[in-house]
Amino acid sequence: MSHIMIHGGGRLKGTLAVQGAKNSVLPILAATILHPGRTVLRGCPHLSDVEASIHILQHLGCKAGWEGADLVVDTSPMSRGDIPDSLMREMRSSVIFLGAILARLGWAEMSYPGGCELGPRPIDLHLSALRQLGAQLREEGGHIRCEARQMRGREIALSLPSVGATENAMLAACGAEGETTLFNAAREPEIADLQTFLRAMGCDVRGAGSSTICVVGRQPTRDAVHTVMPDRIAAATYLAAVAAAGGEVELRNIDYRHLSTVTAALHEAGCQISGGEGWVSLRSDGALRSIPSVRTAPYPGFPTDAQAVLMAALLQSRGATVFVENVFENRYRHVDELRRMGADISVAGRVAVVTGVPRLCGAEVRATDLRGGAALLVAGLAAQGMTRVGDIHHIQRGYEDPVRDLRMLGAEISLEED
Ligand code: UD1
Repeated sequence: MSHIMIHGGGRLKGTLAVQGAKNSVLPILAATILHPGRTVLRGCPHLSDVEASIHILQHLGCKAGWEGADLVVDTSPMSRGDIPDSLMREMRSSVIFLGAILARLGWAEMSYPGGCELGPRPIDLHLSALRQLGAQLREEGGHIRCEARQMRGREIALSLPSVGATENAMLAACGAEGETTLFNAAREPEIADLQTFLRAMGCDVRGAGSSTICVVGRQPTRDAVHTVMPDRIAAATYLAAVAAAGGEVELRNIDYRHLSTVTAALHEAGCQISGGEGWVSLRSDGALRSIPSVRTAPYPGFPTDAQAVLMAALLQSRGATVFVENVFENRYRHVDELRRMGADISVAGRVAVVTGVPRLCGAEVRATDLRGGAALLVAGLAAQGMTRVGDIHHIQRGYEDPVRDLRMLGAEISLEED
C-alpha cells in the first residue's frame, strides 16, 4: 500500500498533456467483443479499472495486453460468456460487458456489480433495455443469466439518461436484427467516442452525442485502430488544482468544449480561462470568490464527477457556494475528510454549502472514492503544510499518474510506501 504526501501552499505552473478518458475506454474495451478480431487502442490510460477490464477479457478467452503504448485486444479466441463475482467486484462498470457478450454469443452470465460508494447504483435500466431487445433474464442469488437466440431491434425509451444503460443498449443493439432507436439516451462525449469506435469496426450506429441514437444490427467486420478521447474529468481536476493553489497551467490533448460548465464555474470564481482547438489554459491568483449554485446534471450539465474537485477548489473562496448533487444520492463522502483540513461545509441530503475559510491546513486524510480522492489532492495543494492522502487505490482507478502530472506543474508531491 502506498500514500501520497503533499506539501501545499505553493503556486503551480506548467503545461500538461491530459490522459485518455477512463469513461470512454471502459465501454470501448467491452465493445471489442462484438467483433472476433483485433483492436488497437491508442492513448489508453494505465489505470486499475483498465487492468480490471483486461482481466475480464482474458477470463473470457480473449488476448489483451500492452504493446508499447498501445493496448491490443484480440477477441477471436473468446471462449466463454460468464464473468465471475471476483472480477465483477473489481470494477462496477463491468456490467457494460453484458450487452456486448450477449450480442456476440447469444447468452451471458455475471453477478451484480458490487456495492457502491456513491449510493444505490441500480442496473434496472440496463436490464430493461436488454429485455426489450428480446433477451430473457433470470436473476437468482445475485446472479444474472441472459439468453437471447435472436434479439430484435425496436424503439427503447430510457426513463433517465443513464450513461451505462445507454452504452449497454447500444452494444446489445449491434447484435440485434434490424433497427433500434434509443430515446432519452445519455449525451456524454464518451458515448460519441464509443460510437466512433463501433463505426470503425463496421457497426451501423448514428446519433450518439444527441438524445436519440439509432443502431442497425450487423456483425462488425473490421479490425479497428482507435485513439481514446481525452479525459475531461482529469482535465477538470488539474484546472481545479491550479485554481485553488494559484498559478497558471496549459492543458493539451483536451477538447475544451467538453469542459464548458467547469470552466464557466472557475471563471465565475475569478480565474482567467481561454481555450482553443486541443488546449485550455487557466490562470488564478489563488484568491477565489464564491459562485452561484452548482447543480450536477447529465451532460451537457455540470458533471457529477467534477463536483468534488470544484468543491475542493472553493474551500478558501470568499463567500458561500451551494452545491446540489442531482445525479447520485451519496456523493459527499469526501466532505468529512475535507473538514479535517479546516473546511467549512454543511451537508443536508443532496445539498452541500461550502463557506470559504481564510486558511486550510494540511492533515492526514483518506480517499473515500475516486473523485473524492482527487478532491483531497486539490485541497492538499492549496493547504498550508503537509497533507497525507491514504487509500489512494481509489484515485488510481481513474488517474494514470497524478503525482507525475502535478510534479510537472511544480507541486511538491510524492508517492510513498506505507
Ligand atoms: C457513468 C460514469 C461515472 C459518472 C456517471 C454519471 C462510467 C464508467 N462511469 O456511471 O463516472 O459519474 O456516469 O455521469 O462511464 N440509474 C438507475 N438505473 C440504472 C442505471 C442508472 O437508476 O439502471 C441511476 C443511477 O443510480 C444514477 C443515475 O442513474 O443515479 C446516473 O447513473 P449512470 O448515468 O448510469 O452512471 P454510470 O453509467 O454508472
